[in-house]
This record gives sequence, structure tokens and C-alpha cells, in this order.
Amino acid sequence: MDLLEKIKISAKKHSKRIVLPESLEERTLKAADILIGENIAQIILIGEPSDIEKEAKNLGLANISDAEIVNPANHPQKEKYIDMMVEIRKKKGLTRDEAAKLIEDPLYLATLMIKAGDADGEVAGAMNATGDVLRPAFQYVKTMPGISVVSGAFIMILKNGEYGEDGMLVFADCAVHPDPDEKELAEIAVATAGTAKAIAGFDPRVAMLSFSTKGSAKHALVDKVANATRIAKEMAPELKIDGELQADAAIVEKVGRSKAPGSDIAGKANVLIFPNLESGNIAYKLVQRLAGAEAIGPVLQGMAAPINDLSRGCSVSDIVNLVAITANQAAGS
Ligand code: ACO
Repeated sequence: MDLLEKIKISAKKHSKRIVLPESLEERTLKAADILIGENIAQIILIGEPSDIEKEAKNLGLANISDAEIVNPANHPQKEKYIDMMVEIRKKKGLTRDEAAKLIEDPLYLATLMIKAGDADGEVAGAMNATGDVLRPAFQYVKTMPGISVVSGAFIMILKNGEYGEDGMLVFADCAVHPDPDEKELAEIAVATAGTAKAIAGFDPRVAMLSFSTKGSAKHALVDKVANATRIAKEMAPELKIDGELQADAAIVEKVGRSKAPGSDIAGKANVLIFPNLESGNIAYKLVQRLAGAEAIGPVLQGMAAPINDLSRGCSVSDIVNLVAITANQAAGS
């Protein structure tokens, strides 16, 4: 059974409440219909109920009648959510009037529902840019304890089973934080190990990537990765992690043995942590295109509750898959 099938079966067991704020977007509505029909998650849609029902009817989507539809114009918890917003953003000077306007934006309402415990997770981004999806999440849901930075991982499934975990690797950060410092890079490594275990389902062996292996080059950028490795070990002493390693030393056994003798990660890594977003984003796209790998994600990690961002070019099945992943994150599995 492939990984996505396993993720869907696991999501069905947990029956989490996932909010889809872009409810009138055609692919989202079609995905909601499938998710409800296959019992992958309980679906909450945000919008004017009569508009959503009309659009569902036009598209012939019979299962949408089983979704919970939340109307931002007259949500019964609106005043409670506004109070929460003003309290959370009081240091930033957010006024009640400003909060009352923001809560009518489905992307803000979705995050407040999660913060209040009225939903377990969110998937959006089919029609909104990354920043617009993430900003409300950063501001109100915030990061999980011990983590200050949200990042994005991709599960890469290679055609060649020789590398990683039988051809599966997790790459991060490929999606969110442009220029992490050494502590943030350590946090990204720890969070990504968690994603590898919870979503990809394997025991992580983490390589902190650089253009140097174990001091072969001297540069401040090399020091950053070596220091991040040390900090990650302090944060999670049980974590199997090593660095700094070049990519070949990380994934090719023979090269690992010769460049980093004695390392129990070199040559066997199944989680690759890139030194910044430029390298991570470029690497996952090149592996996807040049090696024909399947890239599942980005799976956002480090947030206090699961909120995931779609690409605006996503397909209906991308949305179904990301909701299943989000439901698994919400279940903590
Ligand atoms: N983790 C946690 N909190 C964060 C993060 C983060 N990575 N980044 C910003 N924040 C917080 C800030 O602390 C701030 O909080 P505050 O308002 O309480 O002080 C809030 O979020 C807003 O911060 P800004 O710096 O104003 O963030 P902005 O909204 O400008 O940018 C964004 C955030 C959009 C994620 C930005 O970092 C970005 O554009 N990243 C790149 C995204 C991207 O383009 N990725 C590549 C494409 S995705 C793909 O190819 C799969």
C-alpha cells in the first residue's frame, strides 16, 4: 500500500474536524465532497450557506450537505473570537473594530476556530498566497512549545529505492523561513524528525547539509550548520543526527564512509535539513523534476495546531491528500 493510502486510512480512524476556508473555490468544494464521501475527515466550510449549497448543486456534489457550514457574517462565537483576538494581539495594539473586520475574513475565522478548539486543523491556499494563509496562523495559533519557527517539509518518494528509507526522504525547510539562524535551523531539524516519524512513518536519521563535511571547508556558513547540529542534539538528545555533511556524504554509503568515517548517519540519512530556504526549495524542485520524484507537501511543522498551505496550482487530489495529512498531524500520529 502506498504512503498516501496509509495516511488516508489513518485519518479515517481519527475523524478530525478540518476547516476549509476557501469554500466557494471549485477544487476545494470537489475535494470536500470526496473527503466527506470517504469519511477521511469531518469538513467545516466557511461562507454564506446558500452560496455554498448552490455551488455544490451546480457541481453535482451531493455530500456537501453533510459538511458543517459556518457563516462569518453571523457566527454564534464571533464575539468570543473577537475578545480572543484583542487579547492575543493587545501588545500589537489591535482594536475591537479591527478585530471585528478581520474575523469576517475566512482565513482569520478558520485560525480563531482552531485556537478556540472548534476545529482541529485547516487547509487553504488554493486561491490565496502563502503569506495570506500563514500570517493569521502565525499571529493567533502560533508555534508549539519549544519551537519558535514554522517550516515546511516535503516527503520525497524516489523512483530509486537505493537512497534514504527505501527511496523515501524528508526534506526541510523547503517552504517557509528564508534565512534561519543556527537555533532556528536546529528547531527545523527537530520538527522535521517529528514529521518523518508521524507522517512518513519511519525512524528519522537526520543529516544537516552544507557544502562541507566535518570541517573540510572553513566558513561562517559551515559553522552555522555545525552549531545547529550541536544545538539540535541538546534539544533532543535521543535524536539520530549528524552534521555538517555534504549531500553525497549524507546519502551515499560509500561516500559517507570515506568522508565521515565513524558517523552513524553519513551515507544512511533519510531526513535532509538544508541550510536555508533557497537551497531547500531549489533542491526539492530539482529532485522532483530531474529524478521524477513524487513530492508530498509542503507539510507545515512547528505550528501549535496543524495548518497547511496548498499551491495555487493544486489539484483536487492534492487537497484531499493534504487534508488527510493535516488530520494525521491533528491526531499527533
Ligand atoms: N514561524 C513562526 N512565526 C513566523 C514565521 C515563521 N517562520 N515567519 C514570520 N512569523 C511571524 C512573525 O514573528 C510575526 O509575528 P507577530 O506579528 O506576532 O510579530 C508574523 O509572523 C508576521 O511576520 P512577518 O515578518 O510580517 O511575516 P510576513 O507575513 O511578511 O512573512 C512569510 C511570512 C510569508 C511566511 C514569509 O516568511 C515568506 O514569504 N516566506 C517564503 C514563503 C515562500 O514564498 N515560499 C516558497 C514558495 S512555497 C513552495 O514552493 C512550496
